[in-house]
Amino acid sequence: MPGFEIRAAVESDVPALLRLIRGLAAFEDLEHLLEVDEPRLAQSLFGPRPAAEALVALTDDQPQAVGMAIFFPSYSTFLGRPGLYLEDLYVDEPHRGQGIGRALLKAVAAVACRRGCPRLEWAVMDWNKRAQKLYQAIGAKQHKEWTVCRLTGEPLKRLADS
Ligand code: ACO
Repeated sequence: MPGFEIRAAVESDVPALLRLIRGLAAFEDLEHLLEVDEPRLAQSLFGPRPAAEALVALTDDQPQAVGMAIFFPSYSTFLGRPGLYLEDLYVDEPHRGQGIGRALLKAVAAVACRRGCPRLEWAVMDWNKRAQKLYQAIGAKQHKEWTVCRLTGEPLKRLADS
C-alpha cells in the first residue's frame, strides 16, 4: 500500500482538483450541474479574494493528487463565531479505504481548531451510506431535521428583480 501525505493545494494542483471535482460529480450522478473550469477554479481558490481553500492528498505512486477536501468559512449567529463548511471530500476509487479520506477530514478539523472555529459541517447524500459510516466513526452527528434550500437561475433572478 503506497504512503500518502496531505498538504495545502497550490495553483498547479488546479487540473488535478478539477479532475477530482468531476469524479465527485460523477459519483453523485450530478455531472449535469458542472459549470466549473480551470480558470474559474483557479480564480476561486488562488485569486485575489479566495472563496474557498483546498487540501490535497498525494501518494508515492501517482504524479497528481488522488484526494481532496475543499472548504470555506461559515458563520453561526448562535455561537457568534465563524466555522468551516466542507464543500467536497473525494478520494479516487483505487485509493479508497486506505485512510486518506479520514486523514483529509483530520486535516480540515485541524484547520478549524487552529482558527478557533467551533464547528465543521457538511452535507452528504442520504444514499451515501459508506461516507456516512465514516462520518459517524469520526463523531459527526447527522441533522436529519434540516433540509437544504437552494435558489439558483431564473427563480433567483426573479426574486432579486421583484
Ligand atoms: N470505498 C471504501 N471505503 C469507503 C467508501 C468507498 N467508496 N466510501 C466510504 N467509505 C468508508 C468506509 O466505511 C471505510 O470504513 P472502514 O475502513 O471501517 O471500512 C472508510 O470510509 C474508509 O476510510 P478512509 O480510507 O479514510 O476513507 P477513503 O479514503 O475511502 O475516503 C471517502 C472516504 C472520501 C468517502 C471516499 O470513499 C470517496 O471519495 N467516496 C466517494 C465520494 C464521496 O462519497 N465523497 C463524500 C461526499 S460528502 C462531501 O463531499 C462533503
